[in-house]
This record gives sequence, structure tokens and C-alpha cells, in this order.
Amino acid sequence: IPVEVFDLVIFGATGDLARRKILPGLYRRYLAGQIPPDSRIIGAARSAMTEAEFRQMVREAIDEFVSLDKRDARIISEFIDHLSYVAVDAKGEEGWAALKALVRPDRVQAFYFSVAPALFGDLAERLHAWGIAHPQSRIVVEKPFGRDLQTARALNATLAEHFCEQQIYRIDHYLGKETVQNLMAVRFANILFEPLWNAQYIDHVQITVAETVGVEGRGAYYDKSGAMRDMVQNHLMQLICLIAMEPPYHFDPNAVRDEKLKVIRALQPVAPEDIVRGQYLGLKGAPGYIEDSENPESKTESYIALKVQVANWRWQGTPFYLRTGKKLRARESEIAITFKEPPHSIFDDAPGWRENVLVIRLQPNEGMNLKVMIKEPGPGGMRLVQVPLDMSFADALGEEGADIPDAYERLIMDVIRGNQTLFMRGDEVEAAWAWTDPIIQGWEARGDRPRGYDPGTSGPEDALMLMHRDGRRWREIRE
Ligand code: BG6
Repeated sequence: IPVEVFDLVIFGATGDLARRKILPGLYRRYLAGQIPPDSRIIGAARSAMTEAEFRQMVREAIDEFVSLDKRDARIISEFIDHLSYVAVDAKGEEGWAALKALVRPDRVQAFYFSVAPALFGDLAERLHAWGIAHPQSRIVVEKPFGRDLQTARALNATLAEHFCEQQIYRIDHYLGKETVQNLMAVRFANILFEPLWNAQYIDHVQITVAETVGVEGRGAYYDKSGAMRDMVQNHLMQLICLIAMEPPYHFDPNAVRDEKLKVIRALQPVAPEDIVRGQYLGLKGAPGYIEDSENPESKTESYIALKVQVANWRWQGTPFYLRTGKKLRARESEIAITFKEPPHSIFDDAPGWRENVLVIRLQPNEGMNLKVMIKEPGPGGMRLVQVPLDMSFADALGEEGADIPDAYERLIMDVIRGNQTLFMRGDEVEAAWAWTDPIIQGWEARGDRPRGYDPGTSGPEDALMLMHRDGRRWREIRE
């Protein structure tokens, strides 16, 4: 879908996220012909940098974060010509007049707040005081959106002083991932799955987001968050919502978000015995979490597994098992929907596992895999075997499937198009914290310490028990 000419201001343009994701993403959209030639991308930050220095920084970021096959010297130079830079003081008046002179009032305007949340209020206020923002301007805000319900409410209230909800785009980059959106397509564009998509036919759901990286370099932020705040409250919560929600009446921002909100509100409190927290240990000279976080007393979890119940008619009795962690065996994210076994077997040959499993792979190798039982080929009688109906996007869709845009690219373009479907609404974020807070308060009050786990494994042993005791097992995290 084409986009209108726009002016995008990135506050925090010299920061890590801008360099890694936002600016390389914009370049890739430019390469794809999606950025209208008259658009402006304006970097803003505190550093006194010249435009030439900023352009050079972006050039280097493209070299570092865009794959070689997408780096075209001519196009890079063209893209770089669209960039300007203004040194702006979020807490003072410096730079705002220069910014005002650059942002055109009659264009689509977006302001990306890629800065610490403590500055959101200052930026919002000055954008108004200087008459830069208008009632159609959009602002984009990054996580962490608060660290509990109280701080999230305060942030929402601060933003609401200057912008209405339709202007606020709260990013959860998991919603920009191709396969995450595919969840909705699979569920609501096929007749096949939805009749079975409930507690009567689904035994349980497993959501795994495993990472191989540790927290080195961002320990100061991470140690105050932990896996629960950093991943579960937002990314995994969004996945639960898309799996569990009722069909919205239309693929419309508020219709979709209304349904997600109902799921979050239906989440049951989680009992302490349904939570396993872990912290990675050092191994063979490699630092452990304690060293990476530079906090010898840290009780922060770099891994968490939870058993979660969605208390409504559709899901009563179908647990959702979630796990996410750093320094695990592989980078692998997937959702596995395990269906119940057929009620009766007419075959004498009954292999151990007869359930159908639908696996939606988020990364790497995005795709879907449905495990079905078939007859083992050959004359040996009716012997059953489970085989995968496997579909990787890259294979099924050829070049288009292999060329999946990064989550940030898609989301930024949605901001320009004015489509909020893939962004979190204020009430959704608050409801997510309302569920998360008592869980965290529970382990803080008990003084729980996370269990140590060796890096390169699938997490603490206790997490296995979380499923074993229910007669189930985690899927393997494979290298
Ligand atoms: C971020 C978290 O939101 O998501 C990081 O802060 C995490 O800790 C990252 O590594 C994972 O994102 P992705 O897209 O690599 O799965």
C-alpha cells in the first residue's frame, strides 16, 4: 500500500535502536521504493553533530546492519540525501526553532521517541509549545512502557496531556514480525482451524522465545527488568492474545485491540508453583549473569517459564506454557498448538504420540508445520507414523517469502499510513501490567532467587517439571 509524503523526526537518532533498526529499516523501505522522494527523515538528539557527521553515522549503520545484497551504493547515497540532523535539547529550548523550520505542517508527521521514557513528557510538551505538532501528528513510543501499572498509567497520562490515543503508536516489535501477523491470517482466513481452536480440542499451547545472547552491554537496564518485564509482559503477552482472542468483527485497529484486551483481562493470577525463574551461570571462563549485570546480589531472572490459564469459555482447561530466556541452546521462537488425541483408536498399532501439533515458527526460518499421523509406507500392515506437513515461507512463497521485511520496517510504515492495528493501546498495556505486577510482587515478597542454569542448555531443570508433572513435555530447543 503506497504511503504519502511524510516528515519523520527521530528523537534519539544517535542511539542504539536508531542505528540498529530504525535507520537501516528506513533505508530498506527506500530501496523497496516505499519512501516517497519528497519525504524528510530528520534525526534529532542532544549531541552537537553536523548534518554531514550524522549522514556518515547512518552510512556506517547501513554498512553494519543491512545485508550485503541490499547495499547499493547509489541508492544509499540517494537515501542519505533525505536525512537532516538537528541538535535538540529535550529539557531546554535549544534546537526547537531549527526543528520547526524543517518539519512541514501540511505533511504527514511522525515523531519517533527513541529515548528514555523519562523524556516523553518533555518532548511532547515542547512539540506543542513550539507549534510543531498538529492534531494529526503521530508519536511513536518504545518499550519499556513503564515498569509496573503505576508507572505505565503515569506515562499514559503524560502523553494524553498532549496527544490523543489515535495519535499514539506504542511499539511492540513482535507484532511487526511476519509470522505473528500470520497467526491472524491462519486463524481467521481458513475454515480449517477455528472449529478446533478451543479447549475441547486443544490440549495445551507452548510458547518458546529462546535466545542465545546474554545481557552483556545492557546489564544496567536488564537487571531492573528481568525476563518477566522485558519479554513476557509485552512480546509473549501479545502472542497469547493473538492465539487466544475471539475473531474480531473486522481487521480494524480497535476491533482487534478490543479482543486482545479481553484475553489479557481473562488471564488468571499465576501461582508460585507455576513459575520457574532462572539465571545463567558462567561457564568455561565465559561470564555468567552476575558478571554481565555487574550486580553480585542480583535476583533478576534471565529465564522464566510459566503456566498460564486463560479463564474464559473457549480456554477453560487448556494451559498455556510460556518460556523465554537468554543464553539458551539456540535462537528459536515458536508457538506449538498441541491438539488432543483422537478419542478412540481403531488401529492396533498405537505409537506413543498421536496428537496433532501445529507449530508456528517465528524465527529463524519462518513457517508452519503441522504434524499429522499417516500410514507408514510398505506392505507391513497398518503401521502409523507421524510426519510433518512442513511449510517454510521462503520455499512456499519463493523470493517474496525469503525477503521478509524486518518488524521495525513494517511498523514504521504503518505509522506513516496511520494504521494502529499492530500497536498497543493504552488500556492494553495497563491491563498487561495489572496481570504482571502481582506475579513480580509475589516473588519479591518471598525473596525468591532464580535457579542457576548452564548457558547453552534449555534452561533450569525445574522448568521441565512444570510440564512433566502435568504429563506433558516441552518441545526440544534445537541447535
Ligand atoms: C527486546 C528485548 O524487546 O526483544 C530484548 O528487550 C530481546 O531483551 C529482544 O533480546 C528480542 O527480539 P527478537 O526480535 O530478536 O526476538
